[in-house]
Amino acid sequence: MEDLVGQTLLERYRVDEFIGRGGMAEVYRAYDTRRRITVALKFLRADLAEDEVFLRRFRREANVLETLQHPNVVRYFGFEECDDLHFLVVEFIEGEGLRRKLSRLEGPLTLEQALHVLEPVCNALHYAHAEGVFHCDVKPANIMIDHDGRVVVADFGISKLAESATLTYGSTGTPAYMSPEQCRGQKVDARTDIYALGITAFEMLTLDRPFVGDTATIEGAISERIRWEHLKAPPPSPRKYNPDVPEWAAKAILKAMQKRRNRRFASVLAFYDAISDGGKVAPALSMPWLPDLPLRPAPSPLAEATTPSGAPPGRPWGQKVNDIVWAFRRTTSRISAFSSQMRARIQSVATARSSLRRSLQRAASAIGRRVPVRTMLLIVAALAVVAAAIAIWAPWRSSVIPPAASSITPPAATGTSLPTRPLASPAPGTLASPVPGKVTLIVQAQAANIRTGPSTMYPMTAISYEGDKYEVLAVSPSGKWYNICCPGGSEGWIHADPVRVTGDTKNLPVIVPTPPAPQQIGATSTPAP
Ligand SMILES: Nc1ncnc2c1ncn2[C@@H]1O[C@H](COP(=O)(O)OP(=O)(O)OP(=O)(O)O)[C@@H](O)[C@H]1O
Ligand SMILES: [Mg+2]
Repeated sequence: MEDLVGQTLLERYRVDEFIGRGGMAEVYRAYDTRRRITVALKFLRADLAEDEVFLRRFRREANVLETLQHPNVVRYFGFEECDDLHFLVVEFIEGEGLRRKLSRLEGPLTLEQALHVLEPVCNALHYAHAEGVFHCDVKPANIMIDHDGRVVVADFGISKLAESATLTYGSTGTPAYMSPEQCRGQKVDARTDIYALGITAFEMLTLDRPFVGDTATIEGAISERIRWEHLKAPPPSPRKYNPDVPEWAAKAILKAMQKRRNRRFASVLAFYDAISDGGKVAPALSMPWLPDLPLRPAPSPLAEATTPSGAPPGRPWGQKVNDIVWAFRRTTSRISAFSSQMRARIQSVATARSSLRRSLQRAASAIGRRVPVRTMLLIVAALAVVAAAIAIWAPWRSSVIPPAASSITPPAATGTSLPTRPLASPAPGTLASPVPGKVTLIVQAQAANIRTGPSTMYPMTAISYEGDKYEVLAVSPSGKWYNICCPGGSEGWIHADPVRVTGDTKNLPVIVPTPPAPQQIGATSTPAP
C-alpha cells in the first residue's frame, strides 16, 4: 500500500505516522479534525478491501462494535471508505501490545503480574459477551497497554467479521490461539474467547505457547500442524515450562483449553475466579514494564527520633523520593479506579436512557396517529407513577433473611448459560437488623479489591490499600466477604482474607444480594441493535 503519511483523507483524517502492520491491516496514527482527537486508522489489506461480500457484511454488522464502550475496550468509531481505501477508525492507544512487552521480558510473569493483565481483560470480555459480542481473536498482540499502564483489548469482533473473506483468502491471524471450533469453522461463542484467554495466560506465565506444531503427526505448513494440535493434541501443563505456576492456576488454564467447549468455564469471570484461587491472589501493583517503583518503606525508628538539636533528622533523599513517588502512584491509581467506575455508571445510565427512548419511539409509532398526543402523555405519566411506586415498594419487599436461613444464589451457571450477570452497582441487599456496635475493617495487604458483590465473579469497583479503614455494614452468608461503607457513601464488598476486623462481628447482619438476572450466551455474535 502507498505511504499515506501527510495526506488528509475525506477532508477529515490527517495521517501523521505509520504505526505497524498486522494480519488484516496497516495501522496509521492520524488526527481526526472533526472529533479533534488522535485516532488509529486501520487500512484493510488489499484482498479484504476488494472482497465485496466482506465489505457488505462489514458495513452491515460493524455498527454493533460502535456500541461497545468500556474502559478496557479500545473504542471503535466507524468504518470509512475513500476511493479504493477502506479503513476502520479506532481509539489511538499511546503504548504497545502485550506481545511486544512479553518479548522483552527475561523471565515469565508471576501469577500476580499475570492477574494484573487478566483482570481488566476479563472485565472487558465479560462486558462484551453480555452485549452479545465475541472477540474471536484474543491474543497478546490484541491486548494493549498504554503508557499509564491501562490495559485495553483491541480488535473486538473484527476477525469474526472478516471470517467470510478469510475462508477464501486464508487466515487473518496467527492460529496459535484458535479454538478447535474456530479451526473447524464452527460457530463461536464466549467459550471460544475463554480458550484463547487460557492460551494467553499460559504464555504470560511461561513465555511459551502450548501448541507450536512440533507434536503434530501430519505433514504440512506450520499453521496446519498447529491447527491439528488444537484439534487433537492434549495441551501440556504450564507447570512443565514453569514449575512456579501454582497448581490451581495450571488447572484453570487447562480447563480453559479443553477441546470440548462444554468442559471449559461457562464465563470469563469463572475463569478469573479459578485462576486467582477464588480471589485470594490479588493482581500485582507493579509490573516489569511500569517504572520500577519501590514499595512504600515502613517508617524507621530513626526517622521518628529527633536529632540532638531537637530538629527531626533528615530522611535520606532516596527515601523522600520514594515516598513522593509512592504517594503519587496511590493517588493516580485511585483516580483511575474512580474514573473507570464513573465512566461505567455514566455508560449504564446512557444505555438505559437510549433504550427507554427507543421503546417510547416504537410505542409512539405503533399507536401514533390513532391516539391523540394528550392521551399518550397521560399514559406515559401514569406509567411513570407506577414505576416510581414499584421502585419505592421493591426494597421493602426484597429479601431480608436472618443468618441461619440465608443463602446466595451463586452467579455461576453451567452449560450454555453465562453465570448470572454481576450487578452494575454495589450489590443491593437489605440489612436484617441495625448494626449494633460499630465494626471496623482495616486492610492488611498491600492492596485489596472492592467489588460490587460477595464473590470474585462481581466486577471490581475500586482498590483499597494497606491501612485503609472502613465501617463494616454486614457479612455474606459464607462469612468470607464483608459489606463495607466506602468513602462517598456507596457500598462495596471486600474479601475477609486480606483484612483485619475489629468489633463485634457476631451480631453483624447477613446480606443476601438480590439474585442478578440470568444472561444467555447469544447464538449470534451480532444481536439486533
Ligand atoms: N488502536 C491502536 N492504537 C495504537 N496502535 C495500534 C492500535 N491498534 C493496533 N496498533 C498497532 O498497530 C500494529 C498492527 O496492529 P494490528 O492490530 O493490525 O495487528 P496485530 O494485532 O499484530 O494482528 P491482527 O491483525 O491479527 O490483530 C501493532 O503494532 C499494534 O500495536
Ligand atoms: Mg490487532
